[in-house]
Amino acid sequence: MTETVETLPAAWYTDPHVYAREQQLIFARNWSVFARADQVANPGCFVAGRVAGWPVFVVRDCNGVLRGFHNFCRHRAGPVISGSFGHCDLLRCPYHGWTYGLDGALQKTPGFVRDAAVNPYAMSLLPVAVQIWNSIVFVCLEDRGTDLEQWLGEIVPLAQAYPQVDDMVFHSEVVSEGEVNWKSYSDNSAEGYHLGSVHPALTRALLPERTKISTYENGRFIAFNVVYKETEYRAMSNGLWVYKFPGLLLHFSDYGFNLERVTPLGAERTRMQRWFWFPATATGAECDDVVAASNQVMGEDLAICTRVQENLAAGTYQTGQMSPSREGGTIFFQHCVREALES
Ligand code: FES
Ligand SMILES: [Fe+2]
Repeated sequence: MTETVETLPAAWYTDPHVYAREQQLIFARNWSVFARADQVANPGCFVAGRVAGWPVFVVRDCNGVLRGFHNFCRHRAGPVISGSFGHCDLLRCPYHGWTYGLDGALQKTPGFVRDAAVNPYAMSLLPVAVQIWNSIVFVCLEDRGTDLEQWLGEIVPLAQAYPQVDDMVFHSEVVSEGEVNWKSYSDNSAEGYHLGSVHPALTRALLPERTKISTYENGRFIAFNVVYKETEYRAMSNGLWVYKFPGLLLHFSDYGFNLERVTPLGAERTRMQRWFWFPATATGAECDDVVAASNQVMGEDLAICTRVQENLAAGTYQTGQMSPSREGGTIFFQHCVREALES
């Protein structure tokens, strides 16, 4: 008989100190989806947001180099970029007017008397690592020299069997937020055991004997090979669902591609951003069907995860047991969390 594996302690799903450690030890150290490459295609184009709670931005500089920076001025922490996307020729802090080039170098400090002990011109914006894969811009705050494609591991060759982002058209972004710890949501994303109970319509459309879940150590991700019955869920298409630690879901299929970025906003709040791409030949109705099916599955997941979160927070449940054969992905995910927090 296979031994079961104990879950993470319930307190890890509500404790603000655990949340703070996860931001630092997990989200700052892994690559995060940040922008689409087409948003920063030209010099001066920028996208701003947060990674692991830190305000950062990416900008295409005058020489065509894509750069990433922390979004604070070296003087007294004013924001050098306002708004979530746009175009600029220069980075000007709105607090006292210091300006930086798009390469992050400090250019002007109007009215600032230079102190002999301080050379403000040595204070460039603080960089963050930025790389592109499949026309998606990723950012990593604590660059430990792990190349993005190395981090993605076997996802890179697996993705080549499906249409690439550059060959498709971006359709839409759908943003959802829930009163859940990000791990409640990811625990669920990493296993197929709940499909029959939580997603009855989806389960009826699947061919279970051809749906296979694999764990890939190299890329630290879990992949679901999904095959649908003929005529059912045609819009969803056959394909590959990937859950990549810590918070990235990718869905490759012949009919399009979508990704989901899972961002913790607090110990008991999480944001899910989904981006959808389709071939230029897809009709509006086909695209809408895929988004609607995705919304339904995600709504079902979020509903059960919210109830689970309530029980984890109530204080009686401490830990449970998981089955390696049915919940191998979640066991693997929780192993990654433990390993990171104990590092
Ligand atoms: S904080 Fe930016 S110029 Fe003062
Ligand atoms: Fe689900």
